[in-house]
Amino acid sequence: MKIAFVGKGGSGKTTLSSLFVRRLATARLPVIAVDADINQHLGVALGLTEAEAADVPPLGGRLPLIKDYLRGANPRIASAETMIKTTPPGEGSRLLRVNEDNPVYDACARTLSLEGSDVRLLATGPFTEADLGVACYHSKVGAVELCLNHLVDGRDEYMVVDMTAGSDSFASGMFTRFDMTFLVAEPTRKGVAVYRQYREYAADYGVPLRVVGNKVHGPDDLAFLRDEVGEDLLVTLGQSDWVRAAEKGRALPLAELEEANRRALDVLYETADGSYERRDWERYTRQMVHFHLKNAESWGNARAGVDLAAQVDPAFVLGERTAQPA
Ligand SMILES: Nc1ncnc2c1ncn2[C@@H]1O[C@H](COP(=O)(O)OP(=O)(O)OP(=O)(O)O)[C@@H](O)[C@H]1O
Ligand SMILES: [Mg+2]
Repeated sequence: MKIAFVGKGGSGKTTLSSLFVRRLATARLPVIAVDADINQHLGVALGLTEAEAADVPPLGGRLPLIKDYLRGANPRIASAETMIKTTPPGEGSRLLRVNEDNPVYDACARTLSLEGSDVRLLATGPFTEADLGVACYHSKVGAVELCLNHLVDGRDEYMVVDMTAGSDSFASGMFTRFDMTFLVAEPTRKGVAVYRQYREYAADYGVPLRVVGNKVHGPDDLAFLRDEVGEDLLVTLGQSDWVRAAEKGRALPLAELEEANRRALDVLYETADGSYERRDWERYTRQMVHFHLKNAESWGNARAGVDLAAQVDPAFVLGERTAQPA
């Protein structure tokens, strides 16, 4: 299950991503946590020291390795150099599984012990606004998009991505790659404005989107979010002393999180799990092809010097049971 946390800067994306990852770890489910935000804070939120977090090898710095591995023996992709962030898998490509060892995880992942369970952490590495945008050939966040487009995940396997709500994800199609997107919003006009923008993009592509209210203090905050967001409002979390303590470096077990906030995490988990029924791998494959063709035409072909539309394998459908080379 591919789950994204998006929202305005400072809304609580990283905090909620990390709480959700812990919730999954409590249930002993295999999880890969991915830090794909401009500000890289997920590692620390998951308990690493600043130094340890800074030491996680950035996916953005391992793109040639990632591309070469994923390309495998796919005859439509001549070289790693011609592979762009939207290049879709086809026959001969190597696919990724959540619960396996592979050269990509070997090169980039750190394994953390959370709630008595092992969780892998991947990070794009820090990026700036200049790294973003459709014309970015070596976009750092592009490594995550490649991984998502090659990931065959089952019901009880999770990739949780702490993401920005912005330009790059809309241009490349990254925002369409998730079984569920949780938009974190504080009860403020700006928080809700980001939701509206996201909803517009999401609606065109049938992207499942729910709003998670955060730092909701009382009935007035709740009423504001209900008014502004309506039925998309899934659940809310309050101001949390547990989170404050964690920020001071005194992380407690998840069992000690405030009960109302724990219940909210249960709702997130049930909602994520429930989205499995609406999975449609054919549509998922179609959308990646759509965005690939769009990127190829707008900048990729010119950059690569070849027609990248030829990378599309028309008969290929990604899926849990898609065969791949040994
Ligand atoms: N429910 C909460 N209770 C208490 N503090 C919270 C809560 N949610 C978030 N915070 C605090 O608010 C601040 C911003 O949260 P966080 O870093 O998760 O936001 P973000 O959306 O990831 O921000 P950025 O855009 O900078 O990445 C942090 O100091 C965090 O500890
Ligand atoms: Mg963050």
